[in-house]
Amino acid sequence: MDDLRDKYLTRIAGAADETALEDLRLAAVGKKGEVSLKMRELGKMTPEERQVAGPMLNALKDEINSALAAKKVALEDAALDARLADEWLDVTLPARDRPQGTIHPVSQVTEEVTAILADMGFAVAEGPQIEDDWHNFDALNIPSHHPARTEMDTFYMARKEGDNRPPHVLRTHTSPVQIRSMLDQGAPIRIICPGRVYRADYDQTHTPMFHQVEGLAIDKDISMANLKWVLEEFFSAFFGTKVKTRFRASHFPFTEPSAEVDIQCSFEGGTVKVGEGDSWLEVLGSGMVHPKVLEAGGIDPAEWQGFAFGMGIDRMAMLKYGIPDLRAFFDSDLRWLRHYGFSALQVPTLHGGL
Ligand code: PHE
Repeated sequence: MDDLRDKYLTRIAGAADETALEDLRLAAVGKKGEVSLKMRELGKMTPEERQVAGPMLNALKDEINSALAAKKVALEDAALDARLADEWLDVTLPARDRPQGTIHPVSQVTEEVTAILADMGFAVAEGPQIEDDWHNFDALNIPSHHPARTEMDTFYMARKEGDNRPPHVLRTHTSPVQIRSMLDQGAPIRIICPGRVYRADYDQTHTPMFHQVEGLAIDKDISMANLKWVLEEFFSAFFGTKVKTRFRASHFPFTEPSAEVDIQCSFEGGTVKVGEGDSWLEVLGSGMVHPKVLEAGGIDPAEWQGFAFGMGIDRMAMLKYGIPDLRAFFDSDLRWLRHYGFSALQVPTLHGGL
């Protein structure tokens, strides 16, 4: 019996896992186990022998059963320890990147334009998108009979019946913010105004709502030369390469002289590349602020002068990021937004890159 005890207690102590332990249980105290077979032999013994052997066998059986139970608990503990060591999860790790949305190219380019021009000393100004016709037209030297009013495909707000005042409009350009800034702060001025504008127009390069950025600099001795420098610096910073510009004489009621500005590009291979080739693309209107506009803004044209420009933001985004159709900008198609959108953390800055 001592041999049996030694044999099983040693094996149980050394069992590697629960299967080995179960095999040992069957071999020792199972129906046909060694201890069980010994207990069957009790029947063939004399009562005296049985009185000695019986309790000893029972004690052995109990001892083996408790060793099995203790080992089982020890194995379970060890298995749990191993899993804890193996399957740990560090809940303090930063979450996996799961982008939920993107920054729209219009927002991104607005930020880019603002970063460049802010670095040149322009502050951001804003104005309402629903504008009265004085700010949108008259103050900008566009009287009511002027063809520019119809040319701009203006959206008019409805008036109540019997109200004969001129209707408000959805602003057709950001130029009314020129007037608002002049009246608000007086000269000198150095502002840009990015924002939404509206015209009834719809094709591959026109949508009824689009974005412009207005620029306005007024001081004592500002000239077209300053305008040209600012724009050339701007384009080179924006496109990240030296961009030639072409100033074409033009006409706007609110500037004199006026110039439309083209940037150098190539159309080779079916794609537009800015800053190379010998084609030109019109990107903005500009000029020296008309004396009548300064007057409407409460600024004395005998003392002050300045330049203004208005540029299409969406158009700049199309050119810089190779986006062929303007209409898709405003379709809210998730596939388009994921493809052309920017990460929220890609904030454009001059030092970080544009
Ligand atoms: N407001 C003009 C437009 O929308 C652009 C412009 C702005 C032209 C400022 C000259 C000066 O077309």
